Amino acid sequence: MGASLAKIDDAVWSKFEIKPAANPTPEKERAAKLADPGFGRVFTDHMAIVRYNQAMGWHAACVESRANFPLDPAAAVLHYAQEIFEGLKAYKRDDGGVNLFRPDANARRFRNSAERMAMAPLPEALFIEAVEQLVRIDSAWIPGGEGSLYLRPFMIASEIFLGVKPSADYIFAVIASPVGSYFKGGPAPVSIWVSENYTRAAIGGTGAVKCGGNYAASLRAQAEAIDHGCDQVVFLDAVERRYIEELGGMNVFFVFDDGSLLTPPLGTILPGITRDSIIALAKESGTPVREELYTIDQWRTDAASGKLKEAFACGTAAVISPIGKVRSANGEFLISGGAAGPVAMGLRKKLVDIQYGRAADPHNWIKKVL
Ligand code: PLP
Ligand code: COI
Repeated sequence: MGASLAKIDDAVWSKFEIKPAANPTPEKERAAKLADPGFGRVFTDHMAIVRYNQAMGWHAACVESRANFPLDPAAAVLHYAQEIFEGLKAYKRDDGGVNLFRPDANARRFRNSAERMAMAPLPEALFIEAVEQLVRIDSAWIPGGEGSLYLRPFMIASEIFLGVKPSADYIFAVIASPVGSYFKGGPAPVSIWVSENYTRAAIGGTGAVKCGGNYAASLRAQAEAIDHGCDQVVFLDAVERRYIEELGGMNVFFVFDDGSLLTPPLGTILPGITRDSIIALAKESGTPVREELYTIDQWRTDAASGKLKEAFACGTAAVISPIGKVRSANGEFLISGGAAGPVAMGLRKKLVDIQYGRAADPHNWIKKVL
């Protein structure tokens, strides 16, 4: 690590030691990688890292060359999955500057996730500082156009102990990945598979926090979706097995013929920052938004009668992706004839225009990093 072992005083965030990579990616190679980055396979040259132990608290904050972690085979995360993460993006503005979108909301959710998973809560200012430092040093990796730099803060339990208890030691790190669209077809409508065999979350569980275990548990259902020719899985509630909850990695909205929106209520779903932003944008343009339960049977009926005009998935990675087709063991139905609808695409434009600094930001969602 090499960073100073000084404990980080709550007020002094300038404690990050910046150690630029000795052999950064040559410019030509970087340009080639940025030309078509896809999602999550290309990484920048650096990472931010901060350590925690009970004696010192958070310490040894550092930005350094991205490298493997030495991890003892008995590290708690490898056995009991004490792991949480976040996802947010940095966007290049037309004036060459760089925006983050609502990093304070990610920092707050990360803290909530840590509390639920009995991990050391990371001060929100430290989360934001780590993200900003990494974006600054790797700003050459932010794609132009509609691309962005996906930031992945995460925390793992690193105590070497096989007893089942909250770890005494943690590693917090941020890595960055230049990305294009999450789905291969860009904002083209996606198809989703209704999981009737698997659920994602139950009351009292971990559905509302962003822990790796939630995603591990979703993979079998997602594989089933792929087997049925669909892009993503949608989960139903664990009690009655009929209320729509969310997709494997996205929240969901429904658009009705009276112009109103509906999205499932918070509780067992992840409180998406995109979801929250869409609710705010819709409401301020006069669109009623209900946070209410909605069943899969009602969805099918409303799609058939024409009462349901559109449905879309939303999240940091997916932005807003229209849902064109819903498939389940009982057959399939189309939404807006399988085409992208104007409400989803209009909201998508409103949101990305704010993110890229092309539109006014009345909510102060944008944090300029450069
Ligand atoms: N739901 C799940 C399960 C997710 O993984 C995500 C992605 O982070 C979301 C919803 C959307 O959350 P956000 O808009 O904060 O990215
Ligand atoms: C995100 O949108 O940030 C997520 O974590 C979802 C995942 C499917 C990439």
